[in-house]
Amino acid sequence: MALIIDGKKISSEIKDEVRDRVSVLKEKGISVTLAVILVGDDPASAVYVRNKKKACEYCGIESLSYELPSDTSEEKLLGLVDELNEREDVDGILVQLPLPGHLDERKVTDRISPEKDVDGFHPVNVGRLSMGEPGFVSCTPQGIMELIKRSGITVEGKECVVIGRSNIVGKPLSMLLLRENGTVTVCHSRTADLKAVAKRADILCAAIGKPCFVTSEYVKEGACVIDVGINRGEDGKLRGDVDYEDVLPHVSAITPVPGGVGPMTIACLMKNCLESAEKKADR
Ligand code: GUN
Repeated sequence: MALIIDGKKISSEIKDEVRDRVSVLKEKGISVTLAVILVGDDPASAVYVRNKKKACEYCGIESLSYELPSDTSEEKLLGLVDELNEREDVDGILVQLPLPGHLDERKVTDRISPEKDVDGFHPVNVGRLSMGEPGFVSCTPQGIMELIKRSGITVEGKECVVIGRSNIVGKPLSMLLLRENGTVTVCHSRTADLKAVAKRADILCAAIGKPCFVTSEYVKEGACVIDVGINRGEDGKLRGDVDYEDVLPHVSAITPVPGGVGPMTIACLMKNCLESAEKKADR
C-alpha cells in the first residue's frame, strides 16, 4: 500500500509549531508582523491573500494589509516597499503576484529587503540557497522538503527528477534536493525522452502546470511522487500534474491534489515570518 502524504495534517503541525514559537517570542515582548501587499482585483490573488491573513491569525502573527488599486504607479508601490523595509516592527513583506501589467514584478520584488523577503524571491536569497548558505527559501519547495522529511523519506543518494524549471518551484526545489545529497536532474519542455528520464527517479516531482501529465509510464515501480500541480478543470475540480489513479498502484508514496503540496506553501510562509522575527530577537 502506498503512503498517501497528508499535506493538510503536516501543514497543521507546522502551523502549530509556529504558533508555539510565536508565543515564546510574545512572552519576551516581541511580536511577529507580516505586511501583505495586493495590487488590483485578481480574484485568485484575493483568495490567496485572505488565506495568508487567516493563517497569520491562527499563528498569532500580526498582518498588515495594503490593498491598492490596479492603476497604482510603480513609484507609489516602490515607496510603500521602502517604507515597510524601514519599519522595525515589520518582519516580512509579501507582494502578491501576479502584478498588473504596467508594474515590473522583478523590480518590485528586488526592492524588498532580503532580510524581510519571506517569499524567498529576492536574488540575494536565491543566491544564498544555491551556495548552501542560510536565507529565506521559496515556500512551496520548502514545503515539499518538509513533506518528504516528515514522511520519513530520505533524499541522500536518491535519484531525484524535477519536471519544471520555474524560479519559484523547479529551480529552488532542485537546489534543496541537492543540499540533501540527492542526485538531481531538472527536466523541462525541451528534454529529450522525458519519460525515460522520469522513470529513473526514486523521487519524482512534477511542477509542469499540465493536468494529469505524469502517467504510470513516467514512474518507476516504488517511486515517491510529489505533485505540485494545481490545475482547475472545466468541471471546476482541482487536478494535479499527475494522473493520480493511474500512478497510485506503482508508487511507494504520493501527494494527493488537493491536500498534498498546496497547504504547505502558507505553512512555510508562516515559518519564514517567525524565523525573521527570531533573527531580529537575536540581534
Ligand atoms: N502568487 C502565487 N503564488 C505566490 C507566492 O507564493 N507568493 C507571492 N508573493 N505571490 C504568489
